[in-house]
Amino acid sequence: MTSSAAEHARANRPDDWWRSAVVYQIYPRSFADSNGDGVGDLQGILGKLDYLATLGVDVVWLSPIYTSPQDDNGYDISDYTDIDPLFGSLADVDALIAGLHERGMKLVMDLVVNHTSDEHAWFVESRDPASPKRDWYWWRPARPGHPAGTPGAEPTNWGSFFSGPAWEHDPASDDYYLHLFSRKQPDLNWENPEVRQAVFSMMRWWLDRGIDGFRMDVINLISKSALADGEVSEGQVLSYDARLVADGPRLHEFLTEMKEQVLAGHNLLTVGEMPLTTVEKAASYTDPVTGELSMVFQFEHVDLDHGPYGKYSGQRLDWNDYKRNVVKWQSGLGAGWNSLYWENHDQPRSLSRIGDDSPELRVASAKTLASLLHLQRGTPYVYQGQELGMTNHPFAELGEFRDIEALRYAAEAHDRGQPVSDLLPHLARMSRDNARTPMQWTAEPGAGFSTAEPWIAVNPNHAEINAAAQVDDPASVFSHYQALIKLRHDHEVVRLGDFEMLAPDDDGLFAFTRTLGEEVWLVLANITSEPLRLPEDLPSHTGDDLMLGTHERVDPALLQPWESRVLRVSR
Ligand code: NOJ
Repeated sequence: MTSSAAEHARANRPDDWWRSAVVYQIYPRSFADSNGDGVGDLQGILGKLDYLATLGVDVVWLSPIYTSPQDDNGYDISDYTDIDPLFGSLADVDALIAGLHERGMKLVMDLVVNHTSDEHAWFVESRDPASPKRDWYWWRPARPGHPAGTPGAEPTNWGSFFSGPAWEHDPASDDYYLHLFSRKQPDLNWENPEVRQAVFSMMRWWLDRGIDGFRMDVINLISKSALADGEVSEGQVLSYDARLVADGPRLHEFLTEMKEQVLAGHNLLTVGEMPLTTVEKAASYTDPVTGELSMVFQFEHVDLDHGPYGKYSGQRLDWNDYKRNVVKWQSGLGAGWNSLYWENHDQPRSLSRIGDDSPELRVASAKTLASLLHLQRGTPYVYQGQELGMTNHPFAELGEFRDIEALRYAAEAHDRGQPVSDLLPHLARMSRDNARTPMQWTAEPGAGFSTAEPWIAVNPNHAEINAAAQVDDPASVFSHYQALIKLRHDHEVVRLGDFEMLAPDDDGLFAFTRTLGEEVWLVLANITSEPLRLPEDLPSHTGDDLMLGTHERVDPALLQPWESRVLRVSR
């Protein structure tokens, strides 16, 4: 499709087409390797478009494929308008846009503009204090009274999300630059209008190529509050004070400028990743009239099993906490809109984290987790392999991990004297690498992902869990996802119905209704690995339409382990 044809197609969509959509996230490095170098690539993705069409998703969100030193697997970008040779070329992206559009799907690109790579030309220039780009990043002198480059001389006490201080000393000028992520990911200074114009013109360049939206990486971090010391939680040395780094005072202004100068009139799906944000703030960003984005990725539910050491604390999800959180977000956004997710490239596999990944129960558990998410109000996101019930990897040694976040955390823990053997089970359970093992296409060695040694190990369970075994099996997890996506497409009550939680404090039960006019749907799920008798005050609904279930309904009042039912109870 030419870019003007794409423009025409976009203009003819209903404004809020993304409310009916299901999004599929591809992490290119781990999806499909076409050239046998052990790393996934764009040609690999092009070979799988029919698979995506069979699944029935509407949109593909592509994690970064831009030129990058790959310090954080492409979330460190050194050229926003070119493609890393590891993944392919701009011609491949054009083919991807055309291939998706031909099949009625759309493409959302990752937009990583809180920071660039330290190898981006802007930052290279900015290292020179006399350069006109010096102010494009956050350069600050050492803390008064502390010689630059010595411990504790950082301008503020902020911690980086990848361990250690968020400031790096540059011997060239003796100043420090801010990096909320790795030291190879310096934060851009959005206060500078030239930075905003440079980002906006890059975004327009991508829209002209025909893409259909942006997933905006940590976009609520672009406006910082005062660059001052923050509060330090007990047991920590560095500050992670959300009030200083997230949802800063100029965020609405920056996003409104982006909306007016880039997004307006294009009819896009825009989703802002917003760590540390609140439901009240998310409501304001997604308000259809005054807000700036279609939806946000909030983090509250994926943080519920974090403890004193963050995600590596060994804590388990309390499902009743999660139910309360669902109620809060289903009811708290007003006219705004939710994104629905458990998995992405930063989260471990949900089946291992909150479900039952044992060979006996994993299929039922994966299906029920899917139904619980897809029957909520909002736009569901499927992360590659989730539709197959992929599980965490059995990591047994530190040397198997690849992710900078896990490796930096382990190095710091080692420096604090924590034995690796203590940390390993926590890393194995929560590391981002669990999401990044290769997509399991077949039972062959290499899982059909690559003919070479892949950049990260393939999960040995690909022999049982793989796409080839599932696509044509009506009882598979894949078929269940297909059915859920179809339910959303076919039924307005799934898209727009009001949400009401039932029995919120009943352990083991997850039950809710969706209501639109006369139409009422009931979702009943057993979220345990034991049989569950339904409470007597909860109707078991024998005579109703079973729209989708995980098991034969033998006893209406009894749910098998991880059984769920989606019932139409009135119309
Ligand atoms: C959020 C991304 O999802 C994550 O993968 C990345 O490491 C950070 N932002 C930094 O870009």
